[in-house]
Amino acid sequence: MGTERESVLHSWCVQSQWNAPTVVGGAGARLHLEDGRTILDMSSLAECSNLGHQHPRVVAAIRAQAEQLCFVTNAWGAKPRAELAERLLALAGFEGGRVFFTLGGADANEHAVKIIRQALGRPRGVVIARDRSYHGATHLAMALSGDARSRALVDPDAMHVSHVEPPYAYRCPFGSSDHVQCGERAAAAIAARIDHFGPERVAAVIVEPNAGSNGIVAPDNYWPAVRRHTAERGIPLIADEVMSAFGRCGEWFAWQRYGDAGRPDAITLAKGLTGAALPLGAVVLSHELAARLEQQVLNTGLTYCGHPLGCAAGVAALAAYEDEGLIGRSRRLGAALKLELERLAGRHHVIGDVRGGHGLFAVLELVADRATREPLAPWPQTPPALKALLDAALAAGVSFGSRGNLLLLAPPLVIGEQELSDALALLDRLLGRFFPAT
Ligand SMILES: Cc1ncc(COP(=O)(O)O)c(C=O)c1O
Repeated sequence: MGTERESVLHSWCVQSQWNAPTVVGGAGARLHLEDGRTILDMSSLAECSNLGHQHPRVVAAIRAQAEQLCFVTNAWGAKPRAELAERLLALAGFEGGRVFFTLGGADANEHAVKIIRQALGRPRGVVIARDRSYHGATHLAMALSGDARSRALVDPDAMHVSHVEPPYAYRCPFGSSDHVQCGERAAAAIAARIDHFGPERVAAVIVEPNAGSNGIVAPDNYWPAVRRHTAERGIPLIADEVMSAFGRCGEWFAWQRYGDAGRPDAITLAKGLTGAALPLGAVVLSHELAARLEQQVLNTGLTYCGHPLGCAAGVAALAAYEDEGLIGRSRRLGAALKLELERLAGRHHVIGDVRGGHGLFAVLELVADRATREPLAPWPQTPPALKALLDAALAAGVSFGSRGNLLLLAPPLVIGEQELSDALALLDRLLGRFFPAT
């Protein structure tokens, strides 16, 4: 048998340079490779394997569901689908709301926009999104994303999408002097954009509430202010929680960090929903939005939406988060991770900023000069020394995530405390080796 290199197109890479490991199994935070090596996963692959790999409870639920019923179309009923929807509505406190199940995160965002445009009767209503965001790689999701890698491939105007600057406090696009001011001004920019179009022409605002894989971690005053401005103007607010939910930011849903003042009108989910064991996404809709759809034909649906195997995996995953206390564990370990990363920043001048840590998601922004904050490479390029560090880490048995100048730390929530400190000790050594003090 040949390798994937000859037969498969791989995402987000130059095909001729593909040389990623082949994984044959896993347990907890570790992946087992074809060549017999074991890798400690510090990225949850794509920030999705929140429960670690091959979680026994999820695997057993998939097996049991497969023996009973593999598939029924989403036009008909399926028991695990009903159970998962009820559980999500209860966890979100969206009484009387409804859940639309999708295949993953991008189509959850597409469906959220499509469904809300239909609910409001504004099929071409403008959707306001943010620069330096990521909402997925299908066509509309790419247009929603403020992602430098795919900007030239889509025409957001043609899809009625309008972008505003992000709450990037370390390099605040609004010239703010501190985090709070940056959060306020970034939220006010959304209000100003709604007013520019006029609320009757706007269908929704879609934002990652707290942390995003493009490296933004919003100041804490940002999301409640976005909520306030959108509510005052009657505009539905979609929280893209594809990455940030299920403990990643220390809560079931990252917006819950801000209590009722942060409650959105719709939440999009995927990744940790099944602990990534099977593809599944969801749009959780408030009662108010769901009620508007009650007497209309919902003009959408994909054959595999709400697949029973995925839903059974989702029910088991939610039970595992709860019974194993993983949301609180992520909050506790995330705070410890942030402290340790700040200690690393004290030793390594290449670390310009340490962000996150509300749960097991943290970002190190690497700079050429800490005083001037000059980036190590122009965004979104990966600096060669960071690439070399990541390769050396993998050779030493640890896989870290990265994006451009950023090192992303997002291990499974089940990672052992010793495993976490071993990974950070390796990172400490490698930062010293690849970015020596001058
Ligand atoms: C915030 C956010 N939204 C949407 C997506 C897209 O999800 P998927 O890759 O399942 O389509 C991602 C994936 O990284 C994400 O982080």
